[in-house]
Amino acid sequence: MSLKTCHLYIDNEAYDFEVDGDFFWGESRLLFKEKDNVISKMPWKDKGFDVVNAFTDEEFTLLKTSITNIIVNSIKNIGVDIDEKEFGLERYHKFINTNELHNKVIDITRNLENHDFDVDIDALANRFSNILGYELTSWVEELQKSHIQIRISRPNSLDINPPHRDGYLSYWEDIINVWIPIEGCNEQSSLPVCPGSHLIPENDILRTESKGAKINGNVYYVPCILETNKGAIQMKRPNPKQGEALIFTPYLIHGAAVNKNEDTTRISLELRFPRVKH
Ligand SMILES: [Fe+2]
Repeated sequence: MSLKTCHLYIDNEAYDFEVDGDFFWGESRLLFKEKDNVISKMPWKDKGFDVVNAFTDEEFTLLKTSITNIIVNSIKNIGVDIDEKEFGLERYHKFINTNELHNKVIDITRNLENHDFDVDIDALANRFSNILGYELTSWVEELQKSHIQIRISRPNSLDINPPHRDGYLSYWEDIINVWIPIEGCNEQSSLPVCPGSHLIPENDILRTESKGAKINGNVYYVPCILETNKGAIQMKRPNPKQGEALIFTPYLIHGAAVNKNEDTTRISLELRFPRVKH
């Protein structure tokens, strides 16, 4: 393992953080299948992502309420007594005020399934199927379950994963990634992506193996992409609004979602819908 500095830009602003890992340049091949992939019918297929309308106001309220309930229950489950009337997602960091407690909460919220939510996740999968023109499901065959993550990022924290591609993990090779802003998501905190980066071949990418990168003491499942042959990774925040979703190919480089809001926790929902194989 060696300690390296990851330099990157988000909306032209420079960021640096230390990553511990073994880094290597990949083989001369493109993992993104240019024909018959889940975004190949979309006019934005070369960009790799788009922002789409996903919810009516009523549906969004139901989803946000369900997420609030899950987080409140997670906090109670780790033995922290909170006054539910006082609690609000944007003030999460006032209630969970140590790294130790936060890590216990996210141990629960990073690993949820359809039945944890009071909304019909399969109906959502259908909605994105209709947009993309491919049949999608919430069932992940390799994991034998659905997988949903609520991402909680406290203000002024390193609650981030490194720049990465979900598609490096075998069970995320043929999916659509859906990122949904719930609370505190804005131009200071929204998920950054590197436009067009799904078209970069492996020999132009310096990265670690899976579970091979450590940031701030936390080991991440996904490999960390440190840089490309063009140097530092240039990212931008598409910043979807309430009721919208950011959808992208799993080969698009994304991550490093630093929350620069001074006093607002950022909450987002991550869905991954595999393509139905016939
Ligand atoms: Fe990811």
